[in-house]
Amino acid sequence: MARVRVAVLISGRGSNLEALIRHAVAADFPAEIALVISNVAGALGLRHAEAAGITTQVIEHRGKERAAFEAELDRALRAAGVELICLAGFMRLLTGEFVRRWADRILNIHPSLLPAFRGLDVHERVIAAGVRFTGCTVHFVRPEMDAGPIVGQAVVPVADGDTAETLAVRVLEAEHALYPLALRLVAERRAEVIGDVVRIRDAGPPDFGFRLNPAR
Ligand code: GRF
Repeated sequence: MARVRVAVLISGRGSNLEALIRHAVAADFPAEIALVISNVAGALGLRHAEAAGITTQVIEHRGKERAAFEAELDRALRAAGVELICLAGFMRLLTGEFVRRWADRILNIHPSLLPAFRGLDVHERVIAAGVRFTGCTVHFVRPEMDAGPIVGQAVVPVADGDTAETLAVRVLEAEHALYPLALRLVAERRAEVIGDVVRIRDAGPPDFGFRLNPAR
């Protein structure tokens, strides 16, 4: 089967991008990273893509109307024959219009167990709330920030004495395992959006401590 052509959108460090690239080089991975776009020139993640021989493009949002920025993004994605978009630390909100144009074809990763702790400064707020478990979520994007049908989640314990920094390291490690797994499910068309939820076909038993949406 032809591999699904994926674009990864980044704004910075790109460690999730790196994890996706690492998995996508496997011959049996159902998706290929065809394009990496950054809205920030010089983003570190661009170097990971270049090192892997992946086409990169910088489309800056600064000094542009939102509509013009998104039109440029849309043109680049279509020109590259992209079928699926992965947001990986992409720090721009996409408009409802863009999200509808790419309906159920945009994934995002967020460093909490959604719907808890949407938005920024997640780990600080997790620690302040005193919750014992946190984690990360891969979900289909909806116009509302950090909302949309959940493909997969990974649970991470919060330790006594954790700081936002130590917790971020542990959650990031889980992100790097979860995102490739979730992308695989979507690219293999085993993750189907039904209204507000995702149904996973043949999910099998949860792997290495991760909880996918349990089969319904
Ligand atoms: C990750 O924590 C991700 O969940 C959030 O932004 C961060 C991006 O990190 N959306 P990186 O650029 O992938 O290293």
